[in-house]
Amino acid sequence: MAAVRFLLSLSLLLLIITFSFPTLCFSQSDVDALIRFKASFTPGHLINWIPGPGISPCLKKWVGVRCHGKDIIGLHLTNLHLSGTIDVQPLLQLRYLRTISLMRNSFTGPIPLFNKLGSLKALYLSNNQFSGEIPKHYFASMRSLKKVWLNENRFTGHIPESVKHLPHLLELHLEGNHFTGPIPPLQSLNVTSFNVSFNHLEGNIPQSLAKFGVTSFQGNLGLCGKPMTKDCVDHSSPPPSHNQNHTETTGKAKAISDGKVILVATTIFFLLCIVIAFIFSATRRTTKKPDNRGLVSKQSVKDEVLPVQLPPESIHRRSSESNRRSKSGSRREPATKTGVADMVMVNGERGEFRLQDLMKASAEVLGNGVLGSAYKATLSGGLSVVVKRMKWMNRLGKDEFDAELRCFGKLKHCNVLTPLAYYFRKEEKLVVSTYMPKGSLCYLLHGTKDRAHTNLNWPTRLKIVKGVTRGLDFIHKEFASHDLPHGNLKSSNVLLTETYDPLLSDYAFQPLASPCNVAQAMFAYKSPEYVQYQQVSPKSDVYCLGIVILEIMTGKHPSQYLSDGQTGIDIVQWVQTSILENRALELIDPEIASNASSTDNMLRLLEIGAACVESNPDKRLPLNKVITRIEKIS
Ligand SMILES: *[C@@H]1O[C@H](CO)[C@@H](O)[C@H](O)[C@H]1NC(C)=O
Ligand SMILES: *[C@@H]1O[C@H](CO)[C@@H](O)[C@H](O)[C@H]1NC(C)=O
Ligand SMILES: *[C@@H]1O[C@H](CO)[C@@H](O)[C@H](O)[C@H]1NC(C)=O
Repeated sequence: MAAVRFLLSLSLLLLIITFSFPTLCFSQSDVDALIRFKASFTPGHLINWIPGPGISPCLKKWVGVRCHGKDIIGLHLTNLHLSGTIDVQPLLQLRYLRTISLMRNSFTGPIPLFNKLGSLKALYLSNNQFSGEIPKHYFASMRSLKKVWLNENRFTGHIPESVKHLPHLLELHLEGNHFTGPIPPLQSLNVTSFNVSFNHLEGNIPQSLAKFGVTSFQGNLGLCGKPMTKDCVDHSSPPPSHNQNHTETTGKAKAISDGKVILVATTIFFLLCIVIAFIFSATRRTTKKPDNRGLVSKQSVKDEVLPVQLPPESIHRRSSESNRRSKSGSRREPATKTGVADMVMVNGERGEFRLQDLMKASAEVLGNGVLGSAYKATLSGGLSVVVKRMKWMNRLGKDEFDAELRCFGKLKHCNVLTPLAYYFRKEEKLVVSTYMPKGSLCYLLHGTKDRAHTNLNWPTRLKIVKGVTRGLDFIHKEFASHDLPHGNLKSSNVLLTETYDPLLSDYAFQPLASPCNVAQAMFAYKSPEYVQYQQVSPKSDVYCLGIVILEIMTGKHPSQYLSDGQTGIDIVQWVQTSILENRALELIDPEIASNASSTDNMLRLLEIGAACVESNPDKRLPLNKVITRIEKIS
């Protein structure tokens, strides 16, 4: 336990002093993304993509760009004499991109990282010169894939195992490569087109694939079983190519395998010990200190841990600075003459602390979001704080940022979390606030299976909904001039006190966010008006409130929170159809549904939630009406 914490603070410190890479900035415009994508390889002269102000690739009918309305849904760059290697990163910008075809070009190198595009449905790379092994887990993040055409390239190694778990796979073409090893059995029952001919595959053909004819498997000397004429000798292992050699080698193989068994057993034993020790420390850690920020989605596990970083020069300066300080005995100063900033306190209610105190504190990673991460730090005085690293708050200069944060520091409302301090550096900002041991609403609803729901009965849930609504109302009054007074209301940004009073955090950040990644960072940009018309308004906060209400009432994790829409359910659609079909009762979380005397009130709250997520903002319930209707429920 102590060791784990020590390691964490050590790694935090190490990362603090390593050099910080400048954060890449992604432009929002599709034009930019396409131009940067094109710049990554060697284009022929056939691509007529010419950027310019106000140009829409869809209206201008750029070669290969497939659109639906003004959304880019496909890139079909077929037979255009393209070569070189491809940078997939710019394509992450194209949120509606579902199909990529680069067939019949001359691309080389390993398979590009198209698996970053989690919602891709079709990938056609046939007839190029891609080579090398495809990583085993390449397809694990591409759960929407239906069509995979990698034929006529130079891929080697095994067919990546992750392909067998693609749930919606319809077409798989791998013919004409140098794949070796067995054919993995495919999970999808709907595969209609399959070809692995002319590789170096071997072993038994999985029964489910036997329905594809001989031509799908021809040209692989080691394959056996139906539909091939060659029977498999031994079902457990690929047949040996030379029978005589087989008998000769069995004795030797057995001796080797006996030795291996012992080795494997020892390794497994040690691995088990490590795993048990890890689980033990992890459970102790989680039961004691829940993941406060509730960034508990599977996605957060994937994202890398990237703690606080300072530029290298600050190490020297900081130490000389602190020497100087301790000699002169001076107290807090926001910024020194050397230009190295310290923590700036914006709210002194919980005492004052400095960057050094944070660095000395034991730290614990709470979660990693797409654009930031959060740590818990316990200061020597006993105060626990959450340090949130904001990689995307780069719009404002130091003075303006300071003014905004000081304004946040003065906010006082029982449902709003007031930040305590901030740290400003050009590339990143840290925002420090009080740690809430109960964690976030998201964590309580979905974080753990057994413990979490026990206290979330109907009165508590109603209290949380009321508190969230009051907090939002307060923020809408305080930041009335903002386009998006809150902008990032979601269950992981609702923290709970010991008495289950909700506190809103991460509000009013829109003016601080750099325009190029504000849409990724803030949940209000997932509202239908932004998705369809790139517009946000205070009404977008009402949409977010609606999602939170429906989430609280159904206990389900909304797919709206995830960029890939893979897990969770489309809560909006589910609620709307259930209400239309008079099945609203089925929506209520079974854990509170037994409270029959309150069913009418629960249904009323569900209806309010549904009225908040109305996709047309003009028809959406205005916030003041939401409040009066919710306050009437008891
Ligand atoms: C297979 O196809 C059927 C009918 O087309 C569809 O209902 C089903 O969901 C599909 N299964 C998978 C796993 O995609
Ligand atoms: C599989 O690919 C080979 C080589 O391109 C081709 O000759 C054969 O007809 C294909 N079979 C099917 C069923 O697609
Ligand atoms: C046995 O296998 C070796 C290679 O491992 C090969 O050179 C040899 O020809 C084989 N012997 C027979 C009898 O097939």
